[in-house]
Amino acid sequence: MSKRYNVGVIGYGWAATAHIAAINATSQGRVAAVWSSRPLDSAELSARHGGSIRVYSELDAMLADPDLHVVDITSYPSQHRDQAVAAARAGKHLILEKPMANTPEEVREIVAAAAASGVKGCICFECRFSNQFQVTKALLDEGLLGRLHYGEVDYYHGIGPWYGQYRWNTGRKEGGSALLTAGCHALDALLMLMGQEVEMVSSLSTKSSSPFFTPYEYDTSSVTILHFKGGAIGKTAAIVDCLQPYYFHTHLVGSEGSLLDDRFHSMKLKADRGHWSRLSMKMLDSGDVSDHPYQAQFQAFFDALDEGRDMPLTSLAEAAKTFDVIFAADRSAAQGGQPVRLP
Ligand SMILES: NC(=O)c1ccc[n+]([C@@H]2O[C@H](COP(=O)([O-])OP(=O)(O)OC[C@H]3O[C@@H](n4cnc5c(N)ncnc54)[C@H](O)[C@@H]3O)[C@@H](O)[C@H]2O)c1
Repeated sequence: MSKRYNVGVIGYGWAATAHIAAINATSQGRVAAVWSSRPLDSAELSARHGGSIRVYSELDAMLADPDLHVVDITSYPSQHRDQAVAAARAGKHLILEKPMANTPEEVREIVAAAAASGVKGCICFECRFSNQFQVTKALLDEGLLGRLHYGEVDYYHGIGPWYGQYRWNTGRKEGGSALLTAGCHALDALLMLMGQEVEMVSSLSTKSSSPFFTPYEYDTSSVTILHFKGGAIGKTAAIVDCLQPYYFHTHLVGSEGSLLDDRFHSMKLKADRGHWSRLSMKMLDSGDVSDHPYQAQFQAFFDALDEGRDMPLTSLAEAAKTFDVIFAADRSAAQGGQPVRLP
């Protein structure tokens, strides 16, 4: 199949290197350009990543390139809004790293600019495409847990000086909050698995006393309780100041059974309720971007572009709903846990 989507990447940091490999591994996409604030060499980048990569030092010049169809934004969070709006106005489809942006107004501007230009988007909530959550969702879709009335998905990942993005993540301007900077993946996964609209959230936050996390300008642990419109309840802990292995905790409870990470019990299978049955699947157990399921996500995006429709699971509109819940949760935490209703 011919590579019909030329992609220009904004930013050349850690996430970008995983994106480039993943885009080039799809059937239809190839990275044809990179814009960075640092001087880069075209020949060196082309040799490192394969293909022919043109380096731009002016963003406007890259956006004006008629041979680019998609722009992939992997820059600092505070740059996402301006770059995404400019790319959408230039008629480029968007791949945009999380967080979409660090304020509700900026997220709305991105969604509006894409709608006005008729371009599609892919937000990097790639965990939705992970084997762990695809298998979990298939189990739910088969009805093996019945109707869910409780769910929790929690994110435990210590983002200390040993993790690259610590250098900018500690500031409120870029990091934002425990949910915005990383816990958003867990909240987003919970919303996908529960499959119900959120009515109200209540959130509390705090911070570790370990000196590793002293530089953080915001609370690095939060817990959010969600009330869903269908009556179910849920919880997401976003813990970026823990000292332990990376861990995505999932516990779902329904009218026919429960799931705990890779274990489950379903009354429908008539197995022994005193013991868990086990699912064989690849778990989300790494904060390394090279382990993240970007390729499956980008493949789904390009397939959707082929058909002129929004991509499944991580379109702009779907991801914006998750950020609405995150901003409401952070507002609640700022008010000491006061419940906040979603519009
Ligand atoms: N979806 C995920 O799981 C995931 C994982 C990691 C990062 N991210 C997101 O990707 C984005 C980028 O994060 P990252 O981990 O690649 O951070 P990074 O620090 O490697 O890069 C961030 C930005 O800084 C630039 N940069 C890096 N080193 C630089 C230098 N020496 N001089 C000038 N600029 C430099 C990069 O080009 C990029 O624009 C963020 O929005 C982050 O939240 C998402």
